[in-house]
Amino acid sequence: MISEQLRRARAYEARMGALISPAERPLFHLTPTTGWLNDPNGFSGYRGEYHLFYQYHPYSTSWGPMHWGHCKSRDLLRWERLPAALAPDQPYDRDGCFSGSAAETPDGRHLLMYTGRRLEEGREVQAQCLAVGNGENYEKLSANPVITGEQLPPGGSAQDFRDPKLWRDGSRWYAVAGNRAGDGSGEVLLYSSEDLERWRLEGALDRSANQWGKMWECPDFFSLDGQSILLVSPQELEAPGPEFHNGQEVLCILGGLDSGGRFIRQSISPVDQGLDFYAPQTALLPDGRRVMIGWMQAAGEPSCYVPKGQKWFGQLTLPRELSVRDGRLIQSPVRELEAWRKERVSYENVPLSGSLTLPGVSGRTLDMKIALRCRGDGTFTLKFAQDGHRFTALCFQSGPNLLTLDRTYSGFPCNLVHRRTVPVRDRAGELELRLILDRFSVEVFVNGGEQVLSATLYTPQEADGISFHAQGRAEMDLERYRLAEPACQDRG
Ligand code: FRU
Repeated sequence: MISEQLRRARAYEARMGALISPAERPLFHLTPTTGWLNDPNGFSGYRGEYHLFYQYHPYSTSWGPMHWGHCKSRDLLRWERLPAALAPDQPYDRDGCFSGSAAETPDGRHLLMYTGRRLEEGREVQAQCLAVGNGENYEKLSANPVITGEQLPPGGSAQDFRDPKLWRDGSRWYAVAGNRAGDGSGEVLLYSSEDLERWRLEGALDRSANQWGKMWECPDFFSLDGQSILLVSPQELEAPGPEFHNGQEVLCILGGLDSGGRFIRQSISPVDQGLDFYAPQTALLPDGRRVMIGWMQAAGEPSCYVPKGQKWFGQLTLPRELSVRDGRLIQSPVRELEAWRKERVSYENVPLSGSLTLPGVSGRTLDMKIALRCRGDGTFTLKFAQDGHRFTALCFQSGPNLLTLDRTYSGFPCNLVHRRTVPVRDRAGELELRLILDRFSVEVFVNGGEQVLSATLYTPQEADGISFHAQGRAEMDLERYRLAEPACQDRG
């Protein structure tokens, strides 16, 4: 049975989505069918395809009562739009179907687990809910909500209790969810269940203890290359160092399990050090890859970010393959992107001093690798999405090993300074950058993906210049491909 709210959302998105031409959207980053998108939700394999949902307010380009938008793909890059999957249509989720996850059941159904949000006399009440379906239509369980404030540890708060990430291990189901603990800061709670309806609190996996921000949103927990990894998105982080961002941040907590199965924290690092990244979620692919997708937007005051007249707002990042190397999280664009690479142009040992442009090196949809070698202290600046007065810049200072991403002059709709400087590992003046440029974004993978910086860009597409500037002496190798959709659209 489809509710009136869902029927209305589906009719609206079908009508409005048809008014947006492919050229008005990114080439390969996911955007909402119409209106507003935030977190990725329900990233999962189901019946041989990848499904991806997202926090969705179809009726405007601002956040509003949350629905789940829906799409699926065979290659993680070309997404087929499907009708909205969830609408806030039940007493327990009437003020929003908040973030959550998905899994395939042993008997072949697609299970969604999400946070039902309702306001009672102005107070938030958040609880975890389930819906089952066939990859297009989903029915909410009559047992909903299945985890409520009554299953919180003492001091926990049902006002901030959300974003369940679900998985199955053996014959049991597990889920982690974010909560605000008695000390006013975040923790990640682990639950388990045999039948999906009765859930047991196993304990807290880790907590902020007011050291790592306040509420912890969108937890994810998985093992990778022999380690256990907890991803969390804290609010109100007071950055403990220049590698972290104040406010909303995403943390990778690397650890191991002790003999009692308890998570022991070993290190904490930022996941993405750019200007736009939050609330990521991972999926384990059938071939064993752990792939992460994030919301490519700074949470904050997004209304001033929406370019005038734009009918969609919000993008997801590229899917990124994760691994652990030398105790660090390594990210790289999914290898499926290689099928999109066209027209290779390459240069070797290009001497840099002063300003330079290179024949064949321009464009707004590119996969470009630069291996830079600085001779002594100096500053190297790469400008892209450039025309007479607009550009976005990446600037490397080889002495102090600092990398700056600066889109202050990108023609951004808000008149603000948009710049971030982060330390990079000292490699004796060498730096490797891989830039993935899409029409409205850049993702920068540094030194083989040991750091990543993502940012949205709303510079008009005509600004497609690329230039290189050096103070001091340096040389570089460069390889660039134009990115274009593969010609053969095999939908199987
Ligand atoms: C993170 C978040 C989640 C919540 C959702 C609501 O961006 O605040 O915690 O479920 O967005 O849209």
